[in-house]
Amino acid sequence: MPLPLVLQSHPLPKDWVQALEGRACVLVGLEAAEDALGEVEGLLSLLTLPVNAALLDRMPKLRVVSNMAVGVDNVDRSACAARGIPVGHTPGVLTAATADLTFALLLAAARNLPAARRDAQEGRWSTWSPTGWLGADLEEATLGIIGLGAIGQAVARRARGFGMSVVYTAPRAKPEAEAQLDVRRVELAELLQTADFVSLHCPLNDATHHLIDADALARMKPNAILVNAARGPVVDQEALLAALRGGEIAGAALDVTTPEPLEPEHPLFSEPRCLILPHIGSATFGTRRAMAELAVENLLAGLEGRPLPREVR
Ligand code: GLV
Repeated sequence: MPLPLVLQSHPLPKDWVQALEGRACVLVGLEAAEDALGEVEGLLSLLTLPVNAALLDRMPKLRVVSNMAVGVDNVDRSACAARGIPVGHTPGVLTAATADLTFALLLAAARNLPAARRDAQEGRWSTWSPTGWLGADLEEATLGIIGLGAIGQAVARRARGFGMSVVYTAPRAKPEAEAQLDVRRVELAELLQTADFVSLHCPLNDATHHLIDADALARMKPNAILVNAARGPVVDQEALLAALRGGEIAGAALDVTTPEPLEPEHPLFSEPRCLILPHIGSATFGTRRAMAELAVENLLAGLEGRPLPREVR
């Protein structure tokens, strides 16, 4: 039997995708596969590849899409479903790393780390200043989590460890998490009005696109800090810029933007109270490797006609 043809949309370290050896013939990069798309049976994609109907139409033999990410907003799921193609993703293995990075953002914004580092390095650290680089306390502050899935819960656990109170919004109540983590479900309006930190952990879909718009930002407290390690378009970036400039909120820490990469000239980069990272929520050695390995498991299952271990439902 000839090996099935797989398109791996981007290069990955060989040892992360070792399980494909002897089980699939792998082409790396869309360009390299241009002429062979008609024969591709499995797609291993990153979140930077739009898996849309136009691409699917060029791969009539495709039997599985395996996205090396937990979020699948780059994949047109109804186009896949219409073609009977299952979609795999990588939840679970990146939960801790993403929650850690969320906390890194939250702490860095709360304690003005970017400005403090710049001032220290650039000669503006003349003495120990009783009033210099003051930030916000975490202890006894309220964290509002939007989306209490696995990552939201891991963030809540960390917040409780820091002595924060936690409220959340989610489409459905999570009584187990509420009891375990001592968190309380509230309406979005209440969360925005009471939280000192608002952290986004919802998927991007029609309901969450620009969930944080001018109106939401206006409801937030002037001392509030917005953290986004979910997806850029959950926040209306123009409204965020205006809110930061107008002092409606105290700061923002973003691991995700619209678009990605955000052009270095973008005015948000010049906002002193806005910290922007290049989408590194899951970027640890162990986590990225585990994501690739799980993506390969999903891919092989699809190629072999088995249920995907982690299929998007
Ligand atoms: C990263 O953003 C992911 O969805 O895994």
